[in-house]
Amino acid sequence: MATKVSHKGELPPDVLREMEALNGEAGRFHIWLRTQPNSPVQRPWHLAAPAGRPPVAPGAVIPSHPRAVAHVWHWKDIAPYLYRVAELCPLEFTERQQFLLVNPGLPTGIKVTNTIRVAVSIYRPGDVAETHLHTPNASRTILSAGGGYTIVEGERFAAERGDLLLTPNGTWHGHGNDGAEPIIWMDVLDWPLLDYLDVIWIRSDYASARPNEAPAPAGWSQKLYGQGGVVPRSVPPTRGTGIAVSPMFQYRGRATRAALDAMRDQDGSAYEGVEVEFVNPVDGTPVFPTLAYKAQLLRPAEATRPFRHTASAMYVVLEGTGYTEVDGVRLDWGPNDFFVIPNHQWRSHVNADAHKDAVLYQVTDAPLLRAIGQYRAQGRGRDGAVVDLA
Ligand SMILES: [Fe+2]
Repeated sequence: MATKVSHKGELPPDVLREMEALNGEAGRFHIWLRTQPNSPVQRPWHLAAPAGRPPVAPGAVIPSHPRAVAHVWHWKDIAPYLYRVAELCPLEFTERQQFLLVNPGLPTGIKVTNTIRVAVSIYRPGDVAETHLHTPNASRTILSAGGGYTIVEGERFAAERGDLLLTPNGTWHGHGNDGAEPIIWMDVLDWPLLDYLDVIWIRSDYASARPNEAPAPAGWSQKLYGQGGVVPRSVPPTRGTGIAVSPMFQYRGRATRAALDAMRDQDGSAYEGVEVEFVNPVDGTPVFPTLAYKAQLLRPAEATRPFRHTASAMYVVLEGTGYTEVDGVRLDWGPNDFFVIPNHQWRSHVNADAHKDAVLYQVTDAPLLRAIGQYRAQGRGRDGAVVDLA
């Protein structure tokens, strides 16, 4: 039939209904008809749909895929579940005692964004987790004061609050707690991305893969890579079998805090406050090809200007109280709270305390987006005008 276009460019309702009915009918042959109502599926999700556009009619065979939303997880609400699960079920029955953060906008996956998975784990005194190796890159951010350990490629790390411990893809690693108190840390992995790409594999045959391997010398990471501005050239630049990942596995929280403090009298970034990045010490690149890790200091009462980028970001609060506004939604935060900011959404941080610092750790998938030519960033100037930053 001939179609008539309305003055707004919308098809008449009877045609819309007929197209959707046709789409539903065609679904049994595993094809999808492009119709006007279902075209929002293909529109950039962060742009509003045209006013007055009818919803996708029943019968559309491909729903728009779920999008992450901004969300904060408050430590006081979720911590009791961690202690409870640790009481109820010994580690050997579950492999991990942990909860994973689930983005409310992504009900079909255990993930905070489409590229990042976050768990919070507890290890009780005496716990030992099996040594293993996998393709996802992973990190631990230590939330307890201290205790517990991680062994990576034979190097043993005793951890303290604020430490970032890396277990890059292709490195053998295990965890445990030989202290007297439970230890809690935040796990971050690029698991959802690798799962989507169908490249996840895991090995746990450490004993046969590395028979009689001597442990790495104590303090290897710090001895070789812990001197800023000096890079060892007489050892291989990589460890394990991972590619483009950092050979330094531990970044001390205390040193990171001191680095932030040393810069506190600088202007800092209008969008981030005072900020440092945890980098591969060999070449200054992000520690993983997929994820970048940063720490930022918001000085008392400091408020950052609105910023947005094509990367998604996950945060944990190490110190202080404040809030982050994400596209008009206010996320209040305090110590050990976690929050996620999906890509494209305008955000600004505020340290709500007029006397104390706030310290946030951030992980983003910016390196991945840069690698595929999709990283863009914008900020707002003092006058509110949008400025292209990348
Ligand atoms: Fe692991």
